[in-house]
Amino acid sequence: MFNFFKKNAGLSSAPGILPVSTDMHSHILPGIDDGAPDMTASLKLIRGLYDLGIRRSIATPHIIGDLYRNTPQTISAALNATRIACKDAGIDMELSAGAEYMLDDHFMALLVKNEPLLTIHGQYILTELSYNMLPANLQEIVFTIITSGYKPILAHPERYHYFHFNFQEYRRLIDLGFHLQVNLLSLTGYYGKTVEKAARYIMRKGWADLVGTDLHHEKHLAALRKPQNLAIFSQVLEGRRMNLFE
Ligand SMILES: [Fe+2]
Repeated sequence: MFNFFKKNAGLSSAPGILPVSTDMHSHILPGIDDGAPDMTASLKLIRGLYDLGIRRSIATPHIIGDLYRNTPQTISAALNATRIACKDAGIDMELSAGAEYMLDDHFMALLVKNEPLLTIHGQYILTELSYNMLPANLQEIVFTIITSGYKPILAHPERYHYFHFNFQEYRRLIDLGFHLQVNLLSLTGYYGKTVEKAARYIMRKGWADLVGTDLHHEKHLAALRKPQNLAIFSQVLEGRRMNLFE
């Protein structure tokens, strides 16, 4: 499998910054999902990421059929406005956008209708699953994604409780064709002990191709900034650099 991390001992983390310079998962665009509610909040989050060493930020607003029916139009409008606001505020962040697709009926309808999906870095799409229940037809969904020409990344596999009974399920997700993306904060216990255990297991096995902040609000930012958490990130990533986007 293609390895998105590159070992480079010369790139060990400087104090006070994250061990990656590209963040490929966040909800920093204003007013279009459960992330930043307005531009003031967006700018605070983006400045916070910048201060943590992030220089390229790929915003991934939710697209969920019964909650956030974002489209390429709603997302590009929010992206353009945020780029202008960043420029005006003097924040030198390279900003782009994909989406975080819930694998629901709405998503399958988009795929079947051949609607162009919002990709990140070539043909990769960021996807998520319902927290309540694993779709019974997951294998068929992934097959359709891949045969439509996309490469699925599964966001925060460590956060789904139905995988916690058997960590070998993560191996099965990779075999199905997913690339796994771990949330940095999962490694700290922010989402609970079991999520931390699952996240550390996935990292230890080398099964995660990507990490992201999944930044929604200032509470996340405050947790990302904590010195003890920054120490955990650099310890767990051990000098590996995400090289998919860098
Ligand atoms: Fe997310």
